[in-house]
Amino acid sequence: MARSKRIEYLANLTKGFDRVLDIGTDHGFVLAHAFEHNLIKSAIASDLREKPLNQAKTNLKGYPVEYIIANGFKGIQRDFDLAIIAGMGAYLITEIMNDAPQGNQTYLLQANDKIEILREYLINHEFKIVDEYVVLDKFFYVILKVVRGKMNLLDEDIYLGPILKNKSEALPYYAKKAKQIEKILPHADEKRQEILKKMLKIYKNS
Ligand SMILES: C[S@@+](CC[C@H](N)C(=O)[O-])C[C@H]1O[C@@H](n2cnc3c(N)ncnc32)[C@H](O)[C@@H]1O
Repeated sequence: MARSKRIEYLANLTKGFDRVLDIGTDHGFVLAHAFEHNLIKSAIASDLREKPLNQAKTNLKGYPVEYIIANGFKGIQRDFDLAIIAGMGAYLITEIMNDAPQGNQTYLLQANDKIEILREYLINHEFKIVDEYVVLDKFFYVILKVVRGKMNLLDEDIYLGPILKNKSEALPYYAKKAKQIEKILPHADEKRQEILKKMLKIYKNS
C-alpha cells in the first residue's frame, strides 16, 4: 500500500528496535510499514479513540500487535524499547511525554508544528536529543530521536536543532522557515515581531 514519505521515513527509523509502542497510531501505517519490511518483532498500537484503533487492527492484521485504548502512556503497562509519538501538535506531544517511563527507552517524536516548543520541553525535562531528521513530504517534517539524559542547547539550537544544523538536508527546510517568517512578520504585533526577527536571523544565518 502506498504511504506518505513521512510515514515511511518514521517506519524506517524503527530498525534495530524489538518492541515498538506507537502512541496515537490512528491507521497503524507506521507499524504496518515496519512489519512489512521486517524492521521490528512486535508492537503495541495505542490510541485515545476506538475508531482509529479499529482501523489499525484492520491494517495490521496477522502481525504480533497488542491494541490498547489509552491516553498517552497512561495505562500502558507493557515493556517497549521504542515509543513513537508522531503526527500531532508539539504541545500535545509534551503533555504525553510528561508520563513517559523512567527507563532507557528511545522515543521518536514528530511534531507537526512548533518544534522549538518540543526542544525546550526536552531540555527542561531531562531528555537528550540523540539524532534529528528532516523529511520533505509536501511540507517539511522534523523527527527527533530522544532518550532520557541531560543536554545543553545554544539559543539557536532550539530552532535549528543541535544535530540537524550539521546536516545539509536541513538547509532547504531552514530557507523555507525564513520565507514563512518574512511573510507573517509585517502582520504580527510588536512583541511577536521581536521574536520573529530573532528567529529569522537564526534561520538566515544557518
Ligand atoms: C493525526 S493522527 C497521527 C497518526 C500517526 N501517528 C501518524 O503519524 O500519521 C493523531 C492520532 O493521535 C490520537 N491521539 C490524540 N491524542 C492522543 C493521546 N493523548 N493519546 C493517544 N492517542 C492520541 C488521535 O486519536 C489520532 O488517531
